[in-house]
Amino acid sequence: MSRLQVAVLASHNGSNLRALHQASLSADAGFGVALVVGNNSGSGALAYARDTGIPALHLSDRTHPGQLDEAILSALTDHAVDLVVTAGYMKKLGPRVRAAYASRIINIHPALLPRHGGKGMYGKAVHESVLAAGDKVSGPTVHILTEDYDTGPIIAQRQVAVLPDDTPASLAERVLAAEHQLLPTVVEQIAAQRAALGLPEQR
Ligand code: GAR
Repeated sequence: MSRLQVAVLASHNGSNLRALHQASLSADAGFGVALVVGNNSGSGALAYARDTGIPALHLSDRTHPGQLDEAILSALTDHAVDLVVTAGYMKKLGPRVRAAYASRIINIHPALLPRHGGKGMYGKAVHESVLAAGDKVSGPTVHILTEDYDTGPIIAQRQVAVLPDDTPASLAERVLAAEHQLLPTVVEQIAAQRAALGLPEQR
């Protein structure tokens, strides 16, 4: 069976894309990064994809006014994508992509959902919320993406201790390091389950 073809959607730095791509370079990886889509033409994510030869597309409301949903879906289809990973992707996916890839879109969030999720909960705001709540533990969550922010079924989480002198930046750094471990592990498990179950490729 061929490797699971993964698309990564990212808006900014793209460190999770890097972690996923590096893991995919291992000879026994069950997945490959087939496509990167970014809505921000100057993002680190798109630059990394171009530098490493991964097909990379800048698709946004500006490049495709009123047709972004269709444009993303046709890119996913053209690249025979099996699984979509949103990793720091700041746009909501449209109904066509969500319907075509139902249960095959996963998102990574930098807190232990259902805590500290929802609209506006991105990056620094998430870690500020964790510290303001006095939580003793945080860490990333990978979940199935559904229509509402951060509410889909949880696949995996990893715990990271919150230290007494943590700032949002120091906590973000440790959680991000945990994300870089968790995300490739989850994608590898999805790829392995597909192979173990002998599922046909969903093309
Ligand atoms: C990551 O911490 C990810 O969990 C977060 O954005 C960052 C992207 O970093 N996502 C959210 O906050 C979604 N609500 P990266 O571009 O370096 O991968």
